[in-house]
Amino acid sequence: MSQEFRAPRGTFDLLPPRGEAVLAIRDALSAPVRRAGYGYVETPIFEDTALFERGVGESTDVVTKEMYSFSSRGGDELTLRPEGTAPVLRAVVEHGLYRQGLPIKLWYAGSYFRYERPQRGRYRHFSQVGAEVIGTDDPTADAETIVLAMDAYQALGLTGVRLLINSLGSDESRPAYRSALRTYLRGLDLDDDNRQRVELNPLRVLDDKRPEMQKALHDAPVITDFLAADDRAHHDAVRSMLADAGLSFTDEPRLVRGLDYYTRTLYEFVHEGLGAQSAVGGGGRYDGLAEIIGGPRLPGVGFALGVDRTLLAMEAEGLQLPAGPRVEVFAVPIGVDAARRSFALVTQLRRTGVAADLATGRGLKGAMKAADRSGATYAIVLGDRDIVAGVAQIRDLRTGEQQQLPLSDVVAELRRRLRKDG
Ligand code: HAM
Repeated sequence: MSQEFRAPRGTFDLLPPRGEAVLAIRDALSAPVRRAGYGYVETPIFEDTALFERGVGESTDVVTKEMYSFSSRGGDELTLRPEGTAPVLRAVVEHGLYRQGLPIKLWYAGSYFRYERPQRGRYRHFSQVGAEVIGTDDPTADAETIVLAMDAYQALGLTGVRLLINSLGSDESRPAYRSALRTYLRGLDLDDDNRQRVELNPLRVLDDKRPEMQKALHDAPVITDFLAADDRAHHDAVRSMLADAGLSFTDEPRLVRGLDYYTRTLYEFVHEGLGAQSAVGGGGRYDGLAEIIGGPRLPGVGFALGVDRTLLAMEAEGLQLPAGPRVEVFAVPIGVDAARRSFALVTQLRRTGVAADLATGRGLKGAMKAADRSGATYAIVLGDRDIVAGVAQIRDLRTGEQQQLPLSDVVAELRRRLRKDG
C-alpha cells in the first residue's frame, strides 16, 4: 500500500502565487537595511545546542520546551536554530569581525524552528528577516534598527503596525528591580512553573499572557521605575530619536519578550489583524550576549521580522500581494518542427533578457489557453507550414491583433516592441 505524505505538523508548503509574494516580502523587509549599508550573513541552520542554552537562556520557553535538538551520528549535540541573534554573534566572535572596526552591521534571512503549539501565525518552521548592529552602545543604533524595520513595513503598504517599546535596564538597574518583582510575585498564588520562574528569572513571569495572570500582574512593580541614570538617559535618547523620525510608539513597561539576552531597549511590532500571535517582529539590545557566548564585550542591538506573519498582516489589511514576474512572450507551436523551432526562439529571447515561455505537447486550443494564462503580452504562433514559408505570426494578446513576420525578424521585432533595445 502506498503511503500518503503530508508536510509535518506546524509546517506548510508555500505555493505560487503566495510563494512569489513571500519572496517579494522578504526583499521588501530587507531593502531598508541593505540601503543602510548592512552586510549580508548566512550561518548554518543548526548550531551547538549549548550556544542557544547559554545565549537564549535556560529560563526561556524557547530553550526549555521548543528546541529541535538532536545528537548527530558523530555524537555532536546540535539544535536547529530557533532564532538568529546568537548564531550571528557566534560568527562575529569566531571570525574576529570586531577587529575590523565597529560597529558591525549585518542582516540575514532564513528558516527558524521552534517546537511550539501550532496555530494561525505560529509555526514550527517559520521565516525571519533580521538585522544586528554589533559593537556599539550608542542609542542611535537602537533608534536606527527600529526606524529601518518600521520603514520596511510601511514600504509594503502596512498601516496597522504598532510599535511597543520598553527598557529592561542594564546590570545597574536590574538587581533592584528583580528583587522588588520577586517580593511582589512571592505574594501571589502561582502555579509551579511560575514559582520556579520567580526564583530563576522573575521577569519571565511578566510574559505569561493568560488573562488571570495579566490581572494578577497589574500592580507589579515596573522596570522603568528602577532605571539607573545611564539607563534612563539611554532610553530617553532612543525615544526622542524615534519621535524625531516621525514614529509613534507606545511605552509598554511590562514588555519583556521571550529571550533572556535583552538589556536596555526592547521593542515589538504588533498588528491587530493577527489575533493571538500579534507580533510581526521584535528586537532589542543585548549588551552582554557576546561575553555570555565566550567573546569580548560587544554591546549590540537588532531585530527579527516574521515573514509569515507579515504576509498574514498584509492579507488582514486587504493589501494586494506582490506578484511574481510574468513572462512577456509565450510561444505556441503547432507541429513537431514548430516545437523545435519555437524552443530555439524562446531560448534566444530568454538569453537576451526577454521573459519567455512556450507550450509543449498540447493541442492548439490548450496552448492558446496557456498563453492567455501566462499573462504574456505577445504570443508567437508558429506552424510547420510557417516554417516552410519562413514566417511566424506574432499576436498581441491584449488586442488580439496578429502580424506575420519573417522568422528571422521575430526576436528583434519582439525586443523592439518590448523596448528591450534602448
Ligand atoms: P522573536 O521575537 O523571538 O525575536 O522573533 C521575531 C519574530 O519572528 C516574531 O515577532 C514573529 O513575527 C516571528 N516568529 C517567532 N516565532 C514564530 C513562530 N513560531 N511562527 C511564526 N513566526 C514566528 C527573535 O527571534 C530575536 N532573534 C530578534 C532579535 C534580533 N533581537 C535582537 N536581534
